[in-house]
Amino acid sequence: MDQRTLLVRFGMPAIAAGIVLGATLPGVVSGLLAVLAANPSGLPWLFERLFAWLAYLAMTLSVLFGLLLSSKVLDAVAHRPVNFTLHQDLATIGLGMAAVHGALLGLDASMPFSAAQILVPGQAPYAPLAVGVGQAALYLWAVVTASFYARHRTGQRAWRALHYLTFLVFAGATAHGIAAGTDSGRPWAQWIYLAAMTAVAFLLAYRIGISVAERAQRRARSAAAP
Ligand code: HEM
Repeated sequence: MDQRTLLVRFGMPAIAAGIVLGATLPGVVSGLLAVLAANPSGLPWLFERLFAWLAYLAMTLSVLFGLLLSSKVLDAVAHRPVNFTLHQDLATIGLGMAAVHGALLGLDASMPFSAAQILVPGQAPYAPLAVGVGQAALYLWAVVTASFYARHRTGQRAWRALHYLTFLVFAGATAHGIAAGTDSGRPWAQWIYLAAMTAVAFLLAYRIGISVAERAQRRARSAAAP
């Protein structure tokens, strides 16, 4: 990996993380200490929700990044391999956060989940259908993310077919968050869901529009050829 790629892959996320942490950490620490003092057993639940939102944001960004990448919009910003690696890294990090989100349910004192209830879709003691959709989305997401790393073995066609599952993951995780989440009634959470769905729908329509126009151009060119 050359120096420029290293800088974009690790340097820029590190700077962004530093800015976000620097701006938010003092408030987060004092908020956590207040929760800890008032209700120490509520901490796993707080972190479970924090990781839920981080996973949802990483997944949405990865989907948006992928759509921008395949529409070639990002080619003007950086080289394709760099953009592709960032897209893959976002998916992998988000998947890890979603796994932590699920695992933390085992530590929640108000409604602890057993290992089987965490792992088997539909077995949750709370909102089994909505949580089951989240569990199914997580497993599908794991398959899509694994296909990034096995791309040279599966070939481009199988990789692309698997990649379409991403839209099912996004729709499933969104439905899951809205139906199971404690924060779904809050305006800020509703704005996040609305912004994510609108952005994905817009870029998907744009991507489909581009490929329809390209196909028509190709057909016209081959019809005009002698
Ligand atoms: C695709 C992966 C997943 C994503 C992106 C995701 C995301 C979310 C989001 C955004 C919420 C709403 C949080 C809130 O309103 O405070 C939520 C709630 C919840 N999720 Fe997930 N989730 C995923 C997978 C899972 C899995 C695998 C499980 C169980 C093993 C699970 C169990 C729950 C539960 C029980 C809630 C309700 C908790 C609460 O809000 O108090 N999720 N999830």
